[in-house]
Amino acid sequence: MNHFNYRQDALYCEDVPVTHIARSVGTPFYLYSQATLERHFGALKDAFVGDAPLICYSAKANSNQAVLTLFRQWGSGLDIVAGGELFRGLRSGFTPQTIVYSGVGKRVEEIDAAIGHDILMFNIESMEELALIDQRAGALNRKARIAIRINPDVDPKTHPYISTGLQKNKFGIDMAAALEGYRAAHRMPHIEVAGIACHIGSQITTLDPYRQAAAGLIALFKELQALQISVKYLDMGGGLGITYHQEAPPALADYAACLSEATEGTGLRLIVEPGRVLVGNAGILVTRVLYRKQGRAKSFVVVDAGMNDLMRPALYQAHHEVQAVERTSRPPIVADVVGPICESSDFIAQDRSMDDVRQGDLLAVMGAGAYSFAMSSNYCSRPRVAEVLVSGDRFDIIRQRENLQDLVRGEQLPHWLSTPTA
Ligand code: LLP
Repeated sequence: MNHFNYRQDALYCEDVPVTHIARSVGTPFYLYSQATLERHFGALKDAFVGDAPLICYSAKANSNQAVLTLFRQWGSGLDIVAGGELFRGLRSGFTPQTIVYSGVGKRVEEIDAAIGHDILMFNIESMEELALIDQRAGALNRKARIAIRINPDVDPKTHPYISTGLQKNKFGIDMAAALEGYRAAHRMPHIEVAGIACHIGSQITTLDPYRQAAAGLIALFKELQALQISVKYLDMGGGLGITYHQEAPPALADYAACLSEATEGTGLRLIVEPGRVLVGNAGILVTRVLYRKQGRAKSFVVVDAGMNDLMRPALYQAHHEVQAVERTSRPPIVADVVGPICESSDFIAQDRSMDDVRQGDLLAVMGAGAYSFAMSSNYCSRPRVAEVLVSGDRFDIIRQRENLQDLVRGEQLPHWLSTPTA
């Protein structure tokens, strides 16, 4: 359910016509609906009937400070994977004790910052990382809370690039080594064992992988109990899928019930780290048709957004619906929607039956609230696009479109070359 709807053939975001924003902001731009974000967060929260889990919104999906601030106001914690996300999270007012930190490659300065702020816990991904955190916590005269991120060797049945809980993946610590890991952690002077964690993948559309992973983690929990190693949290990560096209992800109530069942009778507090399910369908990318062109084999709609702005189709062959912002009664066409970039992977849709848009028309690329702006780049020296938030009949820019000067910020010629004139 989202708040992008047509009223008499014109696409609205809540109560604002998308064309109106395009006129004011220019194209391309990302557009988010606050009511949709709120609805998604509320629905997830309400899906848990028993003890409330700690919902730690996964900042990587969409880390705009306006989005983070909203989730924080609604009572969310934060899941981070980098010092930059800690920085954004703290700037957006998150209490450090609601922040969990995963990631296979945490750097010493990132670890120090997180220890310094006394975050809720580190999700440890290797024994070397654990040893470093113990050492840094000692040096900083602190104790660091940790969970071991278990690699439960479960197939989440999603795109291979976003499967993270298989033995061949780089993430987490194998179940077989986990017990030894906890024993070691328990002995370390500056470590407090706080939880057991996993994150098995993203855009998961069945509950079975969660069930399997949870069963493994709970078995481990029981072994830890027998060793008198106490644990407070069961962090099941994120990963719940959404409908981009024809996927039928589980209902939130079923997802919640599945995870709650796992913790029942254990005294463990559940943590979840949702990203996509909260923001994915709360955003669109609005782009303008630059040209139509008929090739020998294909029909092309050339738009002003490229793979640098939305790389999911190029990277994962991801499907995003494309629809005209102003619908006409013309019959649909079949075309590739392509961007201005110098690569054949620069497409938004391929062989797509779509509205017969013409030069100058606006297209909405749906389901672009998660991993969309967040993964955009300056490839081909293209300034990153603006982000806009709507609430009711109001809209505001929450990230300015970059300009040409932004492109060269931080660059400098070596001292042996003369100063440029421009
Ligand atoms: N927790 C951890 C440790 C994660 O690595 C992730 C996502 C999440 C939570 C949130 O997962 P979600 O609920 O959003 O599925 N760029 C890809 C998705 C990569 C996901 C990476 N980790 C895409 O565009 O589909």
